[in-house]
Amino acid sequence: MPASSKVVALAVNVGLALAQTTVTVNVGSLLQQIDGFGVSQAFGRASQFQNLTASPRTQGLDYLFSTTTGAGLTIIRNRIGSGGAGDSILPTSPGSPTGTPSYVWDGVDAGQVWFSQAAMTYGVKTIYADAWSAPGFMKTNGNEANGGYLCGVTGETCSSGDWRQAYANFLVQYVKYYQQAGISITHLGFLNEPDLVLVVRFCHPLLH
Ligand SMILES: *[C@@H]1O[C@H](CO)[C@@H](O)[C@H](O)[C@H]1NC(C)=O
Repeated sequence: MPASSKVVALAVNVGLALAQTTVTVNVGSLLQQIDGFGVSQAFGRASQFQNLTASPRTQGLDYLFSTTTGAGLTIIRNRIGSGGAGDSILPTSPGSPTGTPSYVWDGVDAGQVWFSQAAMTYGVKTIYADAWSAPGFMKTNGNEANGGYLCGVTGETCSSGDWRQAYANFLVQYVKYYQQAGISITHLGFLNEPDLVLVVRFCHPLLH
């Protein structure tokens, strides 16, 4: 979900059928394996969380991660910003794919550094960092939102060149900044909802 898009919360009425359906759960049969359940504090939520006073902050963390007084979540998903200054580690284009990137790291990452470290104190080890998009200057539509393609992927060329390696470098740099803060990012994603150009989105903090 790009930060720039207008978010409209939707209540979805699934229209549950009235007819009874029998659901049989066989706990002895292993089908899809579930690694765990998690939460995201993207788009500044981690910063709001971090800014709480000590007591509600600890209570909130307990609710999420404590295995005795909370949900015992084991996964967090952080957002790798792709916008301008204050959002992305590469807010301005280096001019060309081979130009020297001027990375910017504030050590806070909209509260997600704090949130990751806090989650780790509860035993969370699975830290998924996901870019909702490449920075706009690396894409065919020049925008981090509204679809578009990474310049250089199959069938997509840009006058500015092939940005695939530059984008990979950008993602790796993000992981390195976390590593320097003592946080091991275990999973790395490079996109989110690539086909979605609608203004109305279903917002789920972990899935979208
Ligand atoms: C949290 O506090 C910092 C420091 O005062 C501030 O820069 C930041 O904007 C605050 N975050 C939110 C979401 O209000």
